[in-house]
Amino acid sequence: MKHELIEKNLGLMTLLMVLAVSVGGLTQIVPLFFQDLTNQPIEGMQPYTALQLEGRDVYIKEGCVGCHSQMIRPFRAETERYGHYSVAGESVWDHPFLWGSKRTGPDLARVGGRYSDEWHRAHLYNPRNVVPESKMPAYPWLVEKHLDGRYTAEKMKVMRGFGIPYSDADIAGAADAVKGKTEMDALVAYLQVLGTTIKNKR
Ligand code: HEC
Repeated sequence: MKHELIEKNLGLMTLLMVLAVSVGGLTQIVPLFFQDLTNQPIEGMQPYTALQLEGRDVYIKEGCVGCHSQMIRPFRAETERYGHYSVAGESVWDHPFLWGSKRTGPDLARVGGRYSDEWHRAHLYNPRNVVPESKMPAYPWLVEKHLDGRYTAEKMKVMRGFGIPYSDADIAGAADAVKGKTEMDALVAYLQVLGTTIKNKR
């Protein structure tokens, strides 16, 4: 009888549905904000160096996230191919995170150390150099564009504001650390560190 009352009363049903979903959502989601497992970096994790941080910005600027995810799901098929599944603590210093949702190309969460720097350079310059059947776009301009380093220190300060432990020395040395480097150098440095904190432990 009571159930019929709810089913026939749209307003009441909507209200009760909202209530049920909110309570369920709150009890599942809110605790995650307070658990070390999800909001603390994993052991041994290092912040991106100035060069890697600039490389991450090149990755964002060139839209790599449109074809590559950085999120290995905990399924056999994925861990066999890519390595240990991604854990939340690996992403806590990534602002914005680059998990992505489209895999036209392979997942890159653990690509660090899988290839040599030279392989990456040849590949990014023109993927067909090393993977003949590749349909990834070529990025030849990366070798010509130099980082100007004007904002590197500023970027690190912003990241420090998010709780990433950059020291004053890191920030003071930022512009020098990227001096004379190309966008290619930076992007390769970034790719080579991806996922390595867990990978190196095994
Ligand atoms: C239009 C989609 C597309 C875009 C955009 C793209 N890629 Fe790719 N990427 C692919 C495909 C497809 C492959 C697989 C074939 C190959 O290795 O070239 C690939 C492969 C890779 C690999 C090798 C991964 C592995 O485990 O073998 C790396 C590294 C990579 N891409 C980095 C990048 C970076 C960095 C950018 C941005 C500068 C980028 N990709 C942009 C499609 C794309």
